[in-house]
Amino acid sequence: MEPMNWGEGDTSYAHNSGIQNAEQNRMKPMIEAAIIDLCTSTSTLFPTNMVIADLGCSSGPNALVLVSAAIEAIRSYCVQFQRQPPEVCIFLNDLPNNDFNMVVKSLSMLRKSNEPIVVASVTPGSFYERLFPTGSLHLVCSSSSLHWLSKAPEVLTRNHIPAYNIDEHARREMLPMIHDAYAQQFKNDFTHFLKLRAKEFLPGGRMVISITGRHSNGIDSKLFHIWEPIGHILSVMALEGVINKAKYDSFYIPMYGPSNEELRGIIQEEGSFSIKEMVVRGLTSDADSALFTPDRYMSQMRAVFEPVILKHFGEVMEEFMRTAERRWSLDGILRDQLDRLVWLSVSLTKASSSN
Ligand SMILES: C[S@@+](CC[C@H](N)C(=O)[O-])C[C@H]1O[C@@H](n2cnc3c(N)ncnc32)[C@H](O)[C@@H]1O
Repeated sequence: MEPMNWGEGDTSYAHNSGIQNAEQNRMKPMIEAAIIDLCTSTSTLFPTNMVIADLGCSSGPNALVLVSAAIEAIRSYCVQFQRQPPEVCIFLNDLPNNDFNMVVKSLSMLRKSNEPIVVASVTPGSFYERLFPTGSLHLVCSSSSLHWLSKAPEVLTRNHIPAYNIDEHARREMLPMIHDAYAQQFKNDFTHFLKLRAKEFLPGGRMVISITGRHSNGIDSKLFHIWEPIGHILSVMALEGVINKAKYDSFYIPMYGPSNEELRGIIQEEGSFSIKEMVVRGLTSDADSALFTPDRYMSQMRAVFEPVILKHFGEVMEEFMRTAERRWSLDGILRDQLDRLVWLSVSLTKASSSN
């Protein structure tokens, strides 16, 4: 897995993450409600400290949005109810090769006022591993990150089965098999993620996450992979001989978008967390339509997928963007994708019976 595009340049994630930022803003009420619950919970005394983590923070302005919302919710609760604010410990997590330099430089922004006292640090590592001590966390937030898998499904990579077959007929034929492989990988990864976090939470701990998912349950031949447009553009490049066909067939993006029923089922089956609230929103709902013009949308796709594409194919990004521009409106893929993708946001409470 590769991080998002580094730095602050034109193609950086920092400059091209408006769609994700819009979703972060929509998550704020869930975060505020979780903080109020943590402050008023009858099972624990009013906390003297609070440990909050953002998993998959990336870099740029979005890295601090969720934890800032949590800090602000603590501050306003304490002002309203005249409580001594807890000291807040913030951990910002992402993969070790994330642009943490940029994240560290921005940390001082979390200490805008003296109350609450905030100490912040970064926690490089995969959220598919243990990251925090047992029983230490109050709140975990995560936006636009947990649809990334720990790896592409091995049943495909080992057997050299392309994730996005260049031939449309073959692609449709293989869809059930590819779907099962990706869905199973997501189920394994997300179940593992919940088990790891369950150990790290205090009783009553809260988690607010949002991921990209799909409207429909099961197989949708028009949009199976949530990264369908990327597969499509690369397939055009392979057909035109710009990239090598064999190289194309061995390209896998480790990303899966579940339906809300699928996500709910996995959380319930794993059992460590109960679902307090789940919201499904269309990708474009309440968001500035300027974010979804083909140009803007592609720049945002580039900021997310360039590192993965670059690692596998080498320097093909300029040609990739030219192909995208040429084919977008022609092939209708962008429209199909925007109609079918959703944000799944869910607020979870650690079940008291789990360890
Ligand atoms: C699209 S960015 C989201 C960044 C930010 N949360 C936002 O909403 O804009 C997804 C982030 O998830 C991170 N990520 C993917 N897999 C991860 C893993 N296994 N552990 C930690 N971070 C991961 C990526 O490196 C990337 O920075």
